[in-house]
Amino acid sequence: MEFARHLSEHPATAERRAEILKDPGFGNYFTDHTVVIDWTEGVGWHDARVEPYGPIALDPAASVLHYGQEIFEGLKAFRHADGSVQTFRAEKNAERLNASARRLALPELPVESFVEAVKLLVQVDEAWVPEGDGEALYLRPFMIATEAFLGVRPSREVSFRVIASPAGNYFGGELHAVPIWLSEHFSRAGHGGTGEAKCGGNYAASLAAQLEAQDHGCAQVLFLDPTDDFAVEELGGMNVFFVLEGNRLVTPRLNGNILHGVTRASVLQIAADLGLSVEERKFTIDEWREAVAEGTLREVFACGTAAVITPVSELRSEQGTMTFPGTGADAVWARIREQLLGVQTGAVADTHGWLTKLV
Ligand code: COI
Repeated sequence: MEFARHLSEHPATAERRAEILKDPGFGNYFTDHTVVIDWTEGVGWHDARVEPYGPIALDPAASVLHYGQEIFEGLKAFRHADGSVQTFRAEKNAERLNASARRLALPELPVESFVEAVKLLVQVDEAWVPEGDGEALYLRPFMIATEAFLGVRPSREVSFRVIASPAGNYFGGELHAVPIWLSEHFSRAGHGGTGEAKCGGNYAASLAAQLEAQDHGCAQVLFLDPTDDFAVEELGGMNVFFVLEGNRLVTPRLNGNILHGVTRASVLQIAADLGLSVEERKFTIDEWREAVAEGTLREVFACGTAAVITPVSELRSEQGTMTFPGTGADAVWARIREQLLGVQTGAVADTHGWLTKLV
């Protein structure tokens, strides 16, 4: 795909960028450019371009604004010691975008075009890749329905875009264990719904529960499946893992409701490489409570592109609080995190071919 280049005449000054990169936090600042590829029914993908970052002109009747026909991805670009910038499993994100596109009746984008778009943005905005410990340039590809039409049918005009944001710890500050809140009044997904698609609607639907979590001092909310013995599904914005006695790593199986996390898949692979026994299966809240009562639950952790791997200290709920051991740096989550970040940043050999050089 040929990309036209319209570069910004007013990029951030080196001083402003340096100030931002000192403490980027998560999702607060955006680089100077964006990549756009438009799609029209009967024409296909066209007008691929890089342009200055800025507001999008949308017709007020654009279907994304009314019916939420939108999907997105999250991946990161890491600075390596040799000066190169590399991204992690970008093809998997491209494939997941297409799975989400099928569910939301949006057009699929060729995997190569996705990777090219990401590469181009990182090349143009390379100076924004942070170099601090655990920091990266977070890339947010997304696709929106832009046709001005109020009938309920798939949009005949679509825009794919990539924006980039320098990122530190998702939860702010240094890495620390977080308490999470058990949502008992809201569900994230229903069978046959959009649970495993990465669409904005799933995240919008999690926000009321997230507010409840915040009221109880929690950083994330945990969702259960009330139609399946209250099996654990995932958190508002990340997958969840359990470490049980005997180095057993358990995570909820992909049942159509759960996001196919790229970090989740990588954690499973790294854990198997480290010799842990890995179980993708139904894990109910009752089994969780029993494991805590019997002392067989060693650790709980969350994972995602944004969250990387973050230990969970407590599950708070209307019934009370369960506290988990294993939040220290000698725990299984910490070993997996070290391997994962090691591969991503070039400190550990990339034996699975997960990296793509962008710059
Ligand atoms: C990601 O981890 O990339 C996500 O999209 C989740 C969101 C909570 C930031």
